[in-house]
Amino acid sequence: MRITLSVIKADVGGYVGHSSMHEALMERAREILEKEKGRLIIDFHVTRVGDDLQLIMTHTRGEDNEEVHRLAWDIFEECTKVAKEMKLYGAGQDLLADAFSGNVRGMGPGVAEMSFEERPSEPVIIFMADKTSAGAWNLPLYRIFADPFNTIGLVIAENMHTGFSFEVHDVKEGKKIIFNAPEEIYDMLVFLGAPTRYMIKAVYHRENGDIAAVASTQRLALVAGRYVGKDDPVCIVRTQGHFPAVGEVLEPFTKPHLVEGWMRGSHYGPLMPVPVRDANPSRFDGPPRVIALGFQLSDGKLIGPRDMFDDPAFDEARRVANILADIMRSHGPFEPHRLPLEEMEYTTMPQVMKKLEGRFSPIE
Ligand code: F6R
Ligand code: MG
Ligand code: MG
Repeated sequence: MRITLSVIKADVGGYVGHSSMHEALMERAREILEKEKGRLIIDFHVTRVGDDLQLIMTHTRGEDNEEVHRLAWDIFEECTKVAKEMKLYGAGQDLLADAFSGNVRGMGPGVAEMSFEERPSEPVIIFMADKTSAGAWNLPLYRIFADPFNTIGLVIAENMHTGFSFEVHDVKEGKKIIFNAPEEIYDMLVFLGAPTRYMIKAVYHRENGDIAAVASTQRLALVAGRYVGKDDPVCIVRTQGHFPAVGEVLEPFTKPHLVEGWMRGSHYGPLMPVPVRDANPSRFDGPPRVIALGFQLSDGKLIGPRDMFDDPAFDEARRVANILADIMRSHGPFEPHRLPLEEMEYTTMPQVMKKLEGRFSPIE
C-alpha cells in the first residue's frame, strides 16, 4: 500500500509568550482532523513542540496534495481564531498569506512529506524542533546516514553497506544537488557544514532508491523577506531493515550540537532532546528543543506515538546541553552566541549606523 506521511506545522499562537502551546489549540486541530479521518486522511496525530502546532497525517493522495494542504491551512486559521479569542501571543504568526492558494509551501507553514510502499513493518520517527531553523538536521542526518561511528549498520549490515544519497538544497540560490555517500562525503561536508544556506532535503537508499528521510527546508525570513519568526523545522526518518535502526537514528542527539534560533532568532544554542512534556523553551526563550515521536504504520494507521526521548539514557545529553547553554549565555551579546550580523533576524544595525554616520572617519 502506497502511503503518504505528511507533517505540516505552524506557530499560530504561543502560551505564554513563545514558550509553549495552549491545549485549546490542539483540541481544535484534533476536532477538525477527526472529521476527515477515513475520508481525506487515514489517520492523524496532533502534537506540539514549544509554540509550534504539529499536524502529522497519513493518506494516499501523494505529496503536495491540494486538499491535504488546504485542510492543514484551514486548521491553522481555525486555531488562530482560538488563539485570538484568548489573546495568546503572536496569534497567526506563521500564516504569511491572506488566503490559501493550492499549497502551503511558501505561505509560512513548514512541511515534510514522503510517499512510500508500506513495508510489512514500518517504524518511523518524526523529529520536531523549536527555537531553531531548517538546517538543524544537517548534522544528525549526516551522522545517521553517513557516519559509521554513529551507525554501525553502515559497516556490518549487508543491506546498508552501499550507503545513502543526499539531496542538498541551496536555499539562497534555489538550486539542488545529489551527493553519494560514502565516496563523496568530503565534497558534501563542504556544504552541509554551512547549514544556514545548504540543507539536506532528503536521503535515499543507494541500492533501491527508497526514500529514507525528508526534512522541511522552509526559511520564513526568505519567504517573507524579513524576520517573522523562526522556521522551527521537522524531519521524518524511516527506520529498521535496510534503514538505520531506531537506536542509530536517535544516537546523534546524545551529542547536543549548536544551532541557530535561540532568543529573538539571533543566537546559537545547544539543541536539547526532550520528551514532549519538557518541550517548553523558557530559559532565555530556549535553549532550542527537539522531540522525537516514533510510530509503527499499519495500513496508514499511526500506531503510537512513543515519545522516544522520554528515556533516562538522554539525561546526560540534556545535562551537557545545559552546560553548553551556560557557556553560550556567558557571552551575552557577543558572537559566537549572537549570530553574525548578516544572519541576525533582529538587528538595530541600520538605525545605529545612520545615527552615527557623521562620526565615522577614515583610519590614517
Ligand atoms: C525565538 C522566539 C523568541 C522571540 C522573543 C521576542 O525564536 O520566538 O525568542 O523572538 O520572545 O518576541 P517578540 O518579538 O514577539 O516580542
Ligand atoms: Mg511564536
Ligand atoms: Mg516556534
